[in-house]
Amino acid sequence: MSTIDAITKRRSIRKYKADQIKDADLEQIIQAGQIAPNAGPFQISVVQNAELLNKISAVTVEAMKNSGIKMMVDRAAIPGFNPLYGAPTLVVLSAPAKNPYSLANIATAGANMTIAATALGLGSCLMATPELGLKADAELAQAVGIPEGNTVMLCVTLGYAADDVKIPERKPAGKVNYVR
Ligand SMILES: Cc1cc2nc3c(=O)[nH]c(=O)nc-3n(C[C@H](O)[C@H](O)[C@H](O)COP(=O)(O)O)c2cc1C
Repeated sequence: MSTIDAITKRRSIRKYKADQIKDADLEQIIQAGQIAPNAGPFQISVVQNAELLNKISAVTVEAMKNSGIKMMVDRAAIPGFNPLYGAPTLVVLSAPAKNPYSLANIATAGANMTIAATALGLGSCLMATPELGLKADAELAQAVGIPEGNTVMLCVTLGYAADDVKIPERKPAGKVNYVR
C-alpha cells in the first residue's frame, strides 16, 4: 500500500476481532511512533494483558459517567459500552505535562502509528477517553507503566477490524486558505 493510500484509507475502527496482532506488526507500528517528528520525551506503553484491558475499560466507563460531559455520560450509559471497543492491544501515550510540545509529540506519534497500522491491514482508533480512566486511578496508571511525572495524553487501539465493520466516507476536516 502506498503511503497516500494508507493515509486515505485509515479510519477509526470501533469493533475488533479478539485475535491478537502479530508481534512483528506491533514492532513496526511502535517504531513508526518512535520515528515521528518530535520535540521532547514521551512514553509508549503497550497493554495486551486482557485483565488489565478490562480494568482500564471499566475504570474509564466510571470516569466517563462522572465526567459531567453530556456526550461522555450518554455514551457510558449504553449497556455493555466498552470504550476500548474490544481491541486486544491498547497503546497508551504519555509525556511530561511541563513540556509545551508534549501533546504535539504524542499526536505525531499516534498519527504515524495509525497510518502504519492501516498499511499493515490492521484497524486502529486514536482516542482520548481512556486517559480519563488512567488519570482517575493512579494504581492502574502504575500497572500500565506510566512514568512518574508523565501525563496520559492519548491512546491508540490496535487489532483486526470485525467482519461487519462498515468503513464510512470521510469528509476532509479543517479549513484551508492559500496565500500565493
Ligand atoms: C485527539 C483525538 C481524540 C479522540 N478521541 C476519541 C475517543 O475517545 N473515542 C473514539 O471513539 N474516537 C476518538 N477519536 C477519533 C475521532 O472521533 C475520529 O478520528 C474522527 O471522527 C474522524 O474519523 P476517522 O478517524 O474515522 O477518519 C479521537 C480523535 C482525536 C484526534
